Order: sequence, then structure tokens, then C-alpha cells
Amino acid sequence: MKLDFKEKSPADFFSENMDVCGFDNPIRAIYTAVRELLENSLDACEAADVLPKVNLEIRKEGEGIYVIRIEDNGPGIPPEHVPESFGKIFYSSKYVMKQQRGRFGMGGTMAVMYGQITTQRPVHIVSMTEKQIADLKIKIDIIRNSPITEPENIWKAVKPNDTGKQGTTIELTLEGNYQRAREKILEYIKQTAMIAPYAEISFTEPDGSKHLYKREVEYLPPIPKEAKPHPRGVNLELFRRLMAKDPRSKVSNFLVKAFQSIGRKTSLEVLGKADVNPDKRVNKLGSEEIRRIVKSLRKHKGFRPPDASSLAPMGEEMFEAGIKRVLKSEFVKCIQRPPKAYEGNPFIVEVAIAYGGEIKVKEGEIKLYRFANRIPLLYDEWNDVSTRVLKRINWKRYGVKPGDPFAVFVHICSTNIPYKTLGKEYIANKPEIRREIYMGVLQVAREMRNYLNKLERKKKTEKALKTFMKYAETLTSLLSEAVEGINQDEIKGKLREIIVERLKVNEQ
Ligand SMILES: Nc1ncnc2c1ncn2[C@@H]1O[C@H](COP(=O)(O)OP(=O)(O)O)[C@@H](O)[C@H]1O
Ligand SMILES: [Mg+2]
Repeated sequence: MKLDFKEKSPADFFSENMDVCGFDNPIRAIYTAVRELLENSLDACEAADVLPKVNLEIRKEGEGIYVIRIEDNGPGIPPEHVPESFGKIFYSSKYVMKQQRGRFGMGGTMAVMYGQITTQRPVHIVSMTEKQIADLKIKIDIIRNSPITEPENIWKAVKPNDTGKQGTTIELTLEGNYQRAREKILEYIKQTAMIAPYAEISFTEPDGSKHLYKREVEYLPPIPKEAKPHPRGVNLELFRRLMAKDPRSKVSNFLVKAFQSIGRKTSLEVLGKADVNPDKRVNKLGSEEIRRIVKSLRKHKGFRPPDASSLAPMGEEMFEAGIKRVLKSEFVKCIQRPPKAYEGNPFIVEVAIAYGGEIKVKEGEIKLYRFANRIPLLYDEWNDVSTRVLKRINWKRYGVKPGDPFAVFVHICSTNIPYKTLGKEYIANKPEIRREIYMGVLQVAREMRNYLNKLERKKKTEKALKTFMKYAETLTSLLSEAVEGINQDEIKGKLREIIVERLKVNEQ
């Protein structure tokens, strides 16, 4: 028998496995498409240091057919990159080591492909950079994993009076079930507003109802810097790729240049342990030597922790503002944990807690909001590392019980979020991350307990004062009957002063 060997392109593979990226069915698909497009817009604005303004609209085109239109004020996409950005799986401007929402180079493109498969319509993109405008209709050649652009595509130069109006508008037609996805989409937008209080987001539903989240803070989180890989996370493949970029250096210099946290001394020490001549050129290293260097790097104990400047946490103040913006809670407290690392990847955990306001909790439940690199995570909560942490907390100690109107918020920032699926919905149970979440939750829970205790004391004091004042009333009127010319108000005031003073003493 003669075997027939063929190759399958990434687009072809994913067109048959849409479910692994969140396009399982028309409900989930329309939600995921909105999500991927919104994430792309926010990523683009933030990377360009622009306060985002995003208009999102979903229109009904026919039975079960919808158009998603999204417009942002980001930097736009250079025309020559537009076709591939949306018509090729694994084409991305984000394959660098820093915190971003997108990472795989497939989210937006998967949405385009799903739209094409279910409606046969191209995606329509109008993108304006500082200099050029691209107005393109794109389909994907799935077999080849490459874009097909339509003949009427337009590229032109930006006219002088159009400068400063950069941004991208995308119109995507797809099969969906809006009615059943509605709740999740609204929740997603609401939580995005929470984690991005610096963004203005408007959303128009198919029936015309409008939702507007106005900007709450006028500054962006820090722009993350691109980092070099940390030696703790190195493997043979990564090492060979780095070697290929710098073949002519001496290996001792190469290690210093290619990795973070390696100085001259460490480099020599690592190479010494690996029994490799530090003066040897990179392209002269044998495979056995390379293996020994990688092993020695992974074993070395003295590295500084990974550089956290590739991360962009929200900051306590901004996170609190975001939560207040959406939930109107009377008490919100956020704390940011110090940078840590798992497997050579830096991460920062931010944990917040809120009490009261518009927090809706089901009986016996603890409300948990999860975010990763500023993406709200709405599915698969029971599997998530944060859920595991909440289960371990003895809430009674903090003056609350499941079902009370409080909510916990966990935001994890990393150059490499350990998602368990390509659909980016839940985070793996890494011990280092779990520990930081745990410590964070304990800290904010204590703050909430202090707040609740104070509140309780205040209530008690007020009640006691009320009772005392009733007696004071009787006392003064009895006095005024017995003693002539007495000033009732003065006496009442004096008594009140004394009582308030006493209660304050008791409070401590
Ligand atoms: N609204 C947008 N503004 C600017 N660039 C965008 C926008 N949407 C997508 N892009 C570009 O298209 C690329 C591909 O997007 P996508 O397929 O979602 O993958 P990823 O977001 O993982 O990179 C992005 O890396 C980005 O460069
Ligand atoms: Mg994306």
C-alpha cells in the first residue's frame, strides 16, 4: 500500500478545531469574537500610549447572523501588515516578551475565519496610521493559511486634515446566538470597564440599547518594556534560537547579552560548571556543550529574580477606581504583591476586595472576579487557581460568610500567563502563583474585617447614644421642674458631650 502524505496548514487545523479557541457553538463564538476584537483594540491603544476609546456595536443581519463592528482610536495597522494580521493564523506583532493580552497571534484571525466559514463574508477593515489608510476586505485561504484580499481594496495617504484621527474599524459578519450570549457579553464588557478604568467603552446591542462606560481615570498603567528571557526558564530550543541571533560572540559575552540577570561573574561561573571554555565562539559550540550550558543555567541558584519591568500591573489606586466605577461598593481595598517568578517568568498578583454596593452574590457563594493581563476570565472558574485559594480561606475569621455581599478580585500579570487552554479562560495551579494570591487575599480580607468592625462599633455607638439621650431628655425636664430658671438646652448639650466622650473612650 502506498501512503499518501500531505501537509496541513495552521488555519486548516484550527478550522477543524474551532472549539479549542472558544468557537464551539454560535453562543460561545459571538462572545469570543467580541472578546478577541476588544482585546486587540485595547492592546493596540495601550501599546501606543493612547487612552482608549472603543465603540462596539452588534447588528442583526438575518436569522442567526450578526455583524460585529468595532472602532478604536489606536495607532492603526500599517497597510502592508493588515492582510496578514487578519488573514493568517500565527501572524502577530506581539511575539515579544512583555505583558499583553494577545499572545498567540490567532484570536482576531480565528474570529475572521469563523465568520467566513459560517457566512462566507469577508471581514472589512479600515485602518488609519499616521501616514496611510487601508480599506480592505479580507478572506482567508484556509488551505494555505494566507489572506485573500479583494480587488477593490484601497490604500491611500492620509490627507493633512485627517491627521490625528488614527484608529482601526473592523466589521465582521458571523453566525451567532446573541440572545443566549447576551448576558456573558454584557458581563465581559462590564468587567473590562472594571479592569480598564482609563478606557471609554460604548456598546450598542442589536435592539439599539446602549451601554456607556465613561473614562474614570486619565492615565494609563505603565507601558511594559520588552524583556530578555530569564535563564531559569531556558530550554535547548530557546537557547539555540538565541545563539542563532548572535553566532560570532564569545559564549561568556553571549550569555550576558542574551539573558537578563546574568553578569560577567555569573556567566563565567555557569560556564565553569558546564566545563565550557568561556572564550569559545557561539557558532563553535558542540551540541554536548550546549546541553551542558543549558543544564548549568537551569541549576544555577544565584540569579536575581526576573525583571518585572516587562509587566504592567494596574496599581492599587487604579484597580480600586475601576471596581468602584462599576460596582459602587462602599468599601474597596486593593493590594499589589511584590514581583515574583514561576519557571523563569515574572508575574505580579493584585488582589482586591469590595464590600456592599451592587455586588450580587448567590446563597453560599463567594463572588470572585478573575483577570489575567487585564482580560476578564468568565468561563471555567471552578478549575482556576484563584478558586482553589478562596476555598482554603476561613472566612469566619474575617467577619463574613459565603453569601455575604463581598467580592474578591484577582489580577495576574505575567509575560507568560499559564493558561490551560488556547481560549484563555483559566489559569493553571502553579504553586508560586497560588501562594501570592493566598497572601494577597489574607491581606485584603484583614482590611475588610477592620472596616466591618469599625462599622459595627459605629452602629453600636449610635444606638447607645440614642438610648442615653432619651434618658437625658427625661432628666433635664425633671430638673427644670425642680429648679427654676434652668437652661434645658444647655444641660442636654452638656450631657451629650459627656456621653459622646465616654463612648469614644469605650471604643478603643
Ligand atoms: N485594533 C487593532 N489595532 C492595531 N493592530 C491590531 C488591531 N487588531 C489586530 N491588530 C494587529 O493584528 C495582529 C494579529 O491579531 P490577533 O490575530 O488577534 O493575534 P494577537 O492579538 O495574539 O497578536 C496583532 O498582533 C496586531 O498587530
Ligand atoms: Mg488578539
